[in-house]
Amino acid sequence: MNNKYFASILLDWYWLHKRDLPWRNTKDPYIIWLSEIILQQTRVAQGLPYFEKFINKYPKVENLAEAPADEVMRLWQGLGYYSRARNLHQCAKEVVSVHGGQFPNSYQELLRLKGVGSYTAAAIASFAFDQSVAVVDGNVFRVLARYFGVSTDIASHAGKKEFEAMANRFISKEQPGQYNQAIMEFGSLQCTPKNPDCLHCPLQQGCSAFKDGLVEQLPVKINR
Ligand code: ADE
Repeated sequence: MNNKYFASILLDWYWLHKRDLPWRNTKDPYIIWLSEIILQQTRVAQGLPYFEKFINKYPKVENLAEAPADEVMRLWQGLGYYSRARNLHQCAKEVVSVHGGQFPNSYQELLRLKGVGSYTAAAIASFAFDQSVAVVDGNVFRVLARYFGVSTDIASHAGKKEFEAMANRFISKEQPGQYNQAIMEFGSLQCTPKNPDCLHCPLQQGCSAFKDGLVEQLPVKINR
């Protein structure tokens, strides 16, 4: 399997089908971080108005850092998972007080920020700083599991490691940020959990799950 083939099909598809979302037209790590925190466990349609509210009220990380906690919590109201809002505020303060208002520019340093886990660190490092680190979210699990016919449990530690390694093997080294966006968007719009439109899929030819009739069975997630 040619790595470049997989990446280039995803990138070509992405240019034709991507949604025009405000955090995609920027390399500003603050905007990218804010959007990714809001979008955790949240659909784009639900997160979008919150993103607009936050970016209008706090256009720079300093504005968020200096905001009163109760104001930040009020703005977050309705999104749920309120620890995200507390971590968001704390992270903004940390970026200002420890990093002089500049987000760190490497995956390893980003990981140390409050509320930033491996997914968010990879998103910021690749979208803002062109670091070649693969994002692995539910969409990525699904696309990789189906295309390569991998039935390892995605909820297991071994599964997470296996998919992370696979994702990093296939990432485009030339356009890591665009590739990460592309595979997530592909999972979200084309390789959907239910009733994916395989007949019109640009990856159909090499897709293991399609060939074996296992599209609905993959990925495997065993609830514990
Ligand atoms: N969900 C999480 N991150 C996203 C992104 N960057 N674009 C669209 N949906 C997302």
